[in-house]
Amino acid sequence: MARRPKPFVKWAGGKRQIIRELVKRVPESFGVYYEPFLGGGALLFELLPKKAVVGDINEELINAYTVVKERVEDLIRSLKRHRNERDYYYRMRREKPEDPVERASRFIYLNRTCYNGLWRVNSKGEFNVPFGRYRNPKICDEENLRAVSLYLRTADVRIVHGDYRETLKTAKGGDFVYLDPPYAPVSETSRFTEYVSGGFSEEDQVKLAEVFRDLDRRGCYVMLSNSDTPLVRELYREFLMETVSANRPINRVGSGRSNHRELIIRNYG
Ligand SMILES: C[S@@+](CC[C@H](N)C(=O)[O-])C[C@H]1O[C@@H](n2cnc3c(N)ncnc32)[C@H](O)[C@@H]1O
Repeated sequence: MARRPKPFVKWAGGKRQIIRELVKRVPESFGVYYEPFLGGGALLFELLPKKAVVGDINEELINAYTVVKERVEDLIRSLKRHRNERDYYYRMRREKPEDPVERASRFIYLNRTCYNGLWRVNSKGEFNVPFGRYRNPKICDEENLRAVSLYLRTADVRIVHGDYRETLKTAKGGDFVYLDPPYAPVSETSRFTEYVSGGFSEEDQVKLAEVFRDLDRRGCYVMLSNSDTPLVRELYREFLMETVSANRPINRVGSGRSNHRELIIRNYG
């Protein structure tokens, strides 16, 4: 049997810590699966739905998904050429390849070898994370890339680059939407809003809650995860809200790990 695919990028806010809690709460049956804040796609790869629409605002990330889907062998050939060396890393960091395969290859290489697997850009949109100095990072996990590619090609998975509202346009009654936005900040120093320049502000959190209500009216099953803050509790107070504990692996505060509470919010029981 073919290998089971798993996420191929490390992603800030990746859901590995609370994935069991999420899976438990997935509706028993649904139409199309929607994941408009895709990141590493932890829940997508856990569920492997037959029909899905996924998206993210990060263009490099979405290009990588598209290339894994459509040109995985070219990508594997390119990934095998990379070296886990400091000077080489900084050279790659400066490059801006135009070819989609080379772009995806650079993106995965940097993600695997950079400090903490964090994707962070400066105000000009340039990736600026330092070299991670890992002893033996798996830059090219070819078996997994092939498994991901096969899944994306054989299931009906549409990949969208854009704002979450764009991805959700076609969601209808009976579909299942999982929303995993950049977290509402718990404190000034734990900002998880650096995936794209611009980030996700408090106002964006308010707008997202409106979209949640709109999806509810359309008859979708909606599940959202976010940090446990007074703002989030207020925004979703009419929905089912449960607290789970997550040990976040990517955190810039203190020791780099903290025990953190998250909320899982649903419009169904
Ligand atoms: C918490 S992460 C998702 C993590 C993902 N669930 C995982 O398992 O790795 C949030 C994602 O939202 C994306 N994002 C930020 N603003 C967005 C927007 N307005 N529309 C769509 N995606 C957005 C970021 O690029 C990031 O990948």
